[in-house]
Amino acid sequence: MNSDWVKHAINEINADYQRSADTHLIRLALPAFPGIRLYLKDESTHPTGSLKHRLARSLFLYGLCNGWIKEGTTIIEASSGSTAVSEAYFARLLGLPFIAVMPYCTAKRKVEQIEFYGGRCHFVESACEIYAASEMLARELNGHYMDQFTYAERATDWRGNNNIADSIFRQMKNEPHPVPDYIVMSAGTGGTSATIGRYIRCQGYNTELMVADPENSVFLDFWRTRESGLRSAVGSKIEGIGRPRVEPSFIPDVVDEMLRVPDAASVATAQWLETQLGRRVGASTGTNMWGALQLAARMRDEGRSGSIVTLLCDSGERYLDTYYNPQWVEANIGDVRPWREEINTLVK
Ligand SMILES: Cc1ncc(COP(=O)(O)O)c(C=O)c1O
Repeated sequence: MNSDWVKHAINEINADYQRSADTHLIRLALPAFPGIRLYLKDESTHPTGSLKHRLARSLFLYGLCNGWIKEGTTIIEASSGSTAVSEAYFARLLGLPFIAVMPYCTAKRKVEQIEFYGGRCHFVESACEIYAASEMLARELNGHYMDQFTYAERATDWRGNNNIADSIFRQMKNEPHPVPDYIVMSAGTGGTSATIGRYIRCQGYNTELMVADPENSVFLDFWRTRESGLRSAVGSKIEGIGRPRVEPSFIPDVVDEMLRVPDAASVATAQWLETQLGRRVGASTGTNMWGALQLAARMRDEGRSGSIVTLLCDSGERYLDTYYNPQWVEANIGDVRPWREEINTLVK
């Protein structure tokens, strides 16, 4: 039986959910692709600014219902930042201490937001070190390591219950092509792609799931070879996506197609999206949109009409000193101009 505190905690999360609204599905007008509709599920409008708001809610409920989180439990998480921001929000809601373990290079804005919600940041040199450091802290503090990279895929109810896939298909209902030909997503934990892929199968839709993978990520090679021991010495430069090891939450069998996206193409596409939406998006949204544009071009070449949905994962305001700082981009990503020209040619 749940303790009174656990009952209260679950009630707090459910009440917070009841007070929340769903995120928008934005239609992007692209005259260069007649008969093809492109949509962005705008996850930046959650209270904590990213798609990770959904995951954090699910991980807290999962931990509470498993008996892992109790009154006073210190919550520890390995993160590239977005999940930690969202978990700090829920930890504060429940009055629990929270520590985020992140690489030094994590966007300053995310660090500020974690601290705003009363969380503490513990920095490590590289993305490869976040797992061991989190386990160690959890042992030392007798806390609970949430471990999104393991539990993201199972903490989310993929069958329905208003998950992100369910929401996308409901919002598409009155569109000319309500069942998307493709949904494009990138993978950090792989939890979102697992939820979408399973939901498509469970509901019997003919939608194909493409996962777009940045440089220095092992997901694409794992999807091709199924070698789970793959490692990358260098971390991904696209914050939130691309991992140096195969994460347990990435489910390759529900992915129909994968695409390698150069980092400069992701950044160029994110910057181009600002000209279409009138606001900035994060670089992982650029990766997603690059994949969606390639598919739109394929459909156009094949004379097909239909729809493509992808995700706007978070806002670019978090990355003003990186992806929206030309000096940083030149030093860390390289020349994005050829990719911008390629986009301009694609959408002409
Ligand atoms: C900005 C951003 N985009 C995309 C993702 C990938 O989502 P998932 O972990 O569900 O694969 C993340 C995950 O941290 C993220 O922070």
